[in-house]
Amino acid sequence: MRKKIVAGNWKMNLLKDDAIRFAEELNQGLFSTDNRTTDVFVFPGFTLLEAARQNAEYFKIGAQNFYPKQSGAFTGEVSIEQLKDLNLDVVIIGHSERRILFNESNQFIQEKLFSALDNDFTPILCIGETLDVRNNGHHFSFISEQLAAALNAFNAHQLEKLILAYEPVWAIGTGITASTEQAEEMHCHIRSWLTNNFSLELAEKISILYGGSCNEMNAKELFSCPNVDGGLIGGASLNAKQFLSIINIMNGLF
Ligand code: 13P
Repeated sequence: MRKKIVAGNWKMNLLKDDAIRFAEELNQGLFSTDNRTTDVFVFPGFTLLEAARQNAEYFKIGAQNFYPKQSGAFTGEVSIEQLKDLNLDVVIIGHSERRILFNESNQFIQEKLFSALDNDFTPILCIGETLDVRNNGHHFSFISEQLAAALNAFNAHQLEKLILAYEPVWAIGTGITASTEQAEEMHCHIRSWLTNNFSLELAEKISILYGGSCNEMNAKELFSCPNVDGGLIGGASLNAKQFLSIINIMNGLF
C-alpha cells in the first residue's frame, strides 16, 4: 500500500512567528483528527526551518533546497550535512521554479538526488511540463525524459525512498488545475515508466503527488484518482486551516 502524503511548499513566504503559529494550529488540528493515515510534510524557507521543526509535533519539516557538495567555498549555499544538523531528512528536488528561474539542469538535479539518497534523505522529485509542451502534445515524452534524466543512474533498491510530484508548470500558481483525467493519465504514465525502467514492485511503492493550484475545493476529486497518492500544495499550504482541510480530505478518503 502506497503512502498517502500531503505536503506544503511555502516557497519564499512567511516569517518566523507565522511558522510558529502555523505549527501550533496544525498540531492542534492533527491531534484532534481521528483518522491519521496521511503523512504530512511542510517545507518552509531556510530561515524558518528551525522554528518550524521545533514546533512540529504531528507532521514533518523538510527543506526546499540544498547544494549537493559536502562543504566548502559555495557562498550562500546550504549543504545536506547542515540540514542533517537540524535533524531534517526530507528535501524537494527539481521544482520547476528552480529548473526555470535558477537554471537547474537535469544533470544538477541528478547530482542533488545522489547527494540526498546517499545521506538517507527522502527526496521529493518534481517533474512537469510547460504549457507549450502540452499544447504541442509532447507532455508524455517530456515527462519520460525528465524521469530518465534524473533517475537513469540509480537502481530500484536505491530509489525505494523516492517520492515523485507531478507539477504541470501551467498549473502552478495559476488557479488552473489539471483535470482529474489529465492528472490520472499522467500519473499512470509515470507509474508505467517506473515499471518499465525499474520494476512493478518499485512502481507500486513510490507515491506520486499532484501539485499545481490544488486546494480544498478540488483536492477531493484529485485525491480520488487511483494513481494520485497525495498533493504538493503551494499557496493553499500557507494557511494552517486551509492546509488542514486538504489533509482531512485525504484522511476522509481512506
Ligand atoms: P500552487 O499550489 O501555489 O499552485 O503551487 C504548487 C507548487 O508549486 C508546490 O510545489
